[in-house]
Amino acid sequence: MALAEFVAELAGLLDDAEKAFAAAGDAQALEAARIEFLGAKSGRLKNVQKGLAGVDKDDKPAAGKRFNEVKEAIATAFEAAKERVERARTAVAGRRGSEQFDPTLPGRPVRLGHLHLLTQTIEDLKEIMGRLGFTAASGPEIEDEWHNFQALNIPPAHPARDPLENFYLATAGAATGSGPLLLRTQTSTVQIRVMEQTPPPVRIISLGRVYRPDTADATHYPMFHQIEGLLIDRHATMADLKSVLRLFAKSYFGGDGHIRFRPSFFPFTEPSVEVDMSWNERWIEMGGAGMVDPNVLAAVGYDPEEVSGFAFGLGVERVCARRYGVTDIREFYKNDVRFLEQF
Ligand code: DAH
Repeated sequence: MALAEFVAELAGLLDDAEKAFAAAGDAQALEAARIEFLGAKSGRLKNVQKGLAGVDKDDKPAAGKRFNEVKEAIATAFEAAKERVERARTAVAGRRGSEQFDPTLPGRPVRLGHLHLLTQTIEDLKEIMGRLGFTAASGPEIEDEWHNFQALNIPPAHPARDPLENFYLATAGAATGSGPLLLRTQTSTVQIRVMEQTPPPVRIISLGRVYRPDTADATHYPMFHQIEGLLIDRHATMADLKSVLRLFAKSYFGGDGHIRFRPSFFPFTEPSVEVDMSWNERWIEMGGAGMVDPNVLAAVGYDPEEVSGFAFGLGVERVCARRYGVTDIREFYKNDVRFLEQF
């Protein structure tokens, strides 16, 4: 074979190979082209190489040199095509990610938490009492002795003021010069704070935390919540108190809620009663109540001859536990979602 013929064959091969590699749109097409041109057994390059043997002896070195150049050029063209196809593949994969987003599919539901059962209860109680015309008021959890005791007709010698019955704050009072301070033991403090600020009539509730150095058991905890109610007007009577508490019980427990009063004593009410509520035929003590003691009215500057009123204080955990069948008050504070998510 003449050298010119062989060289022309090589040129045609290189041209075909470059075109085929450039046309390959994906890895599969490129692999087919690779086998066609570079296949080890019967690729077209291999076939042309066989023709080398038929080239005139004198032309062999030149033919061999040219063959190697073309072989390298084909290999280079293949590598370039391979890189191009690979780049295209990753770009498509990236795009497909967003192409697969289907805005018509329903979304994955977000796992929502909810309010703690006690917070729900507080909201419920506010709502019920709001319907009866009671506005929610609040007061500080760190109190002075005037609001926690003295103005509530609890004199210095009263056993309720024993340091062992209270969480006194050792340094806070001294620092502010306000006298001894303690964590409030009852929300009755808010009665005083509201009456000091507002002339009668008064119709408020107050919900919040109170603190007592109790050992924790199924029915006690060193911190718990109370709902306090106070109504002051010209002719408020014990019958009004009973009506309000009965409506409260019926609203919170449903139609089967009942109340009963048992005689009792609190320094800030006269007469005083324990308030029991029954639901599903079981009586449970929910707190105390009574007609506001004239000494309390006088302490805030009201005229006991002009106005009278009633007050009550109930345990939020008590009413809530009764309604939801919670048998251990400590469950409220453990933050165990298995308990909390039930409500
Ligand atoms: N403060 C009382 C307590 O914590 C509960 C109470 C009783 C509140 C009678 C009142 C009331 O307003 O009139 O035990």
